[in-house]
Amino acid sequence: MDKFPNEFLFGVTTSSFQIEGAWNEDGKGENIWDRLTHTRSDLIRDGTNADISCDYYHKFKEDIKIIKELRLSAYKFSISWSRILPNGNINYINEAGIIYYNEVIDEILKNNIIPMVTLYHYDLPQKLQDIGGWCNPLLVDYFADYAKLMFKLFGDKVKWWTTFNEPSEMIFGYNECRYAPYLSLECFDADYIIAHNVVKAHAKAYRIYDREFRSKQQGKVSIILCGFNFKPKTDSQEDKDAEIRARQFTLGWFAHPIYSEQGDYPYVMRELIDTKSKNEGKMKSKLPQFTTEEIDEIKGSFDYFALNHYSSAVVSNNKMNCKTEHTYRDADVFVEFGDWPPTAAHWCKFAPWGIKEQICWIKNEYNNPPIYVTENGCGDLGDINDVKRIQFLKSYLEEVLKAINEHKCNVIGYNIWTLLDAFEWCNGFRHKYGIVSVDFNSCNRERKLKLSASFVKSLCETRSI
Ligand code: NOJ
Repeated sequence: MDKFPNEFLFGVTTSSFQIEGAWNEDGKGENIWDRLTHTRSDLIRDGTNADISCDYYHKFKEDIKIIKELRLSAYKFSISWSRILPNGNINYINEAGIIYYNEVIDEILKNNIIPMVTLYHYDLPQKLQDIGGWCNPLLVDYFADYAKLMFKLFGDKVKWWTTFNEPSEMIFGYNECRYAPYLSLECFDADYIIAHNVVKAHAKAYRIYDREFRSKQQGKVSIILCGFNFKPKTDSQEDKDAEIRARQFTLGWFAHPIYSEQGDYPYVMRELIDTKSKNEGKMKSKLPQFTTEEIDEIKGSFDYFALNHYSSAVVSNNKMNCKTEHTYRDADVFVEFGDWPPTAAHWCKFAPWGIKEQICWIKNEYNNPPIYVTENGCGDLGDINDVKRIQFLKSYLEEVLKAINEHKCNVIGYNIWTLLDAFEWCNGFRHKYGIVSVDFNSCNRERKLKLSASFVKSLCETRSI
C-alpha cells in the first residue's frame, strides 16, 4: 500500500467569518460580510447571516480537541482583521482580539498541532471598504501594517503564514457580485486594479517578514491561489490555446508575478489585454504595470506554493465573443463545468485527476516549488453518513499521491476543507463542507462527527488511503 511521506502534513482549514460568530463581541469592528448579510439578506440564498454561525469564538477549545482526536497534524485558520483592528488601521488596536487569538494559538500548540494562519479570508474591515476597498492603493500599506503586527505578536508561535486566500475569488465581489462588497465595477476595470493592489500587498508583507522577522522566527510565508484545472473541449489548437489562456488568466494572473522569472503578469495576459485596451481607445492598458522596484519586491515572494483545489472545467475558444458568467473577461474563452459527477455546488464537479494535473502544471510552470494543498473538499446537503465526501477525499488524495510518486512533484501537505459545517458565503448554510456537523438549531451549536471524520482519522494514523 502506498504511503504518504513521513514529513507530509495532513491538516484541516477553516476561516474566521465562516465559523466564529461573535460578530460584535469584545470590540470587534464591522467587516464587509457583516455589512452585506445585515443589509442585503436577500442576497444570501437562505437569508441567514454569520452573527453566531458555529459559535467557534466560544467553542474553539472543543473544536481543537476534535482536530487532535482525528490525529491531524496541522490546523489552518484565519484571523479576523477587524477583530484586531476594528477600523482596519493600526491607530486603534483591540487588545481583546489579541488575547483571543493568543488563546487560540496556545490551545493549538498545547495539543501538538501546527498552527497555520491566513491573514485575509475575504473579511475586509468595513471602514476600509468605505474608502474604496481593494480598489484603493492605500490598502497595500494598511495590509502591510496589519501583517507586520501579526508577525510581531504571533510569529514566535506561528511558523506557517499565508497572506491572502483566493484573491481571484474575492475579486468577484467587485465584478460579478458573488461576494461582499457586492459591487459592479467592471466598467472601471476594477478586477485588474484589485489584483494589482493585492499582489503588491502580499509582496510587501512578505518582504517585511524577510527583513524584520525571518531570521528570528524561521517561518514560511505564501499566498493561497486557486483556479480550475482546465481541459480543452476538443483537440483543436484553438481550444488548446484557450486552455492556456484560461489557466493564465486565473491562477497565472497571481502566480506569474510571484513565481516566474519575469516577475510580471503572464505574457498572454499582457499581450491580449494591452491590445484590447488600445482597440477600446483607452489611454493606457487595463492591466497595470509594476515598476522595476515592485517587480524586485514581488518576484520570489514565496516560501511554498499554497493551492486550493476543488475541480476541473472544460474550456473552448470563445469564437462568438459572447459575454456570460462562463467567459472570463478579455481571455476569449468559454468555460463549462464539465459532465463529471456533481457535488452540491454547481461549479464543483467530481474530477479527482484534476488535482494531479494542476499540481503537475504548477511544477512545470514554476520550477518545482514545494506545494501545499491548503484546501480540498466537497459540499453536500448535510448527510452525517457522508459516504460521497469520503469517496471525494479518497480519490483526490490518491491523485495527490500519484503526483508525488509518479510525477515527482514536491507536495508537502494537504488540508481538508473543512472542519465544521459553516457559513458558505452567499449560499448561507445550505451547502455543508464539514467533516463535523453543527446543529444550528441548538443554542449550544452541538457538534457531531460525520462518517468522513473516521476516514480522516484512519488516513492520519496509517498515512495511506
Ligand atoms: C474556498 C474558500 O476559501 C472557502 O471560503 C469556501 O468555503 C470553499 N472554497 C468552498 O466553497
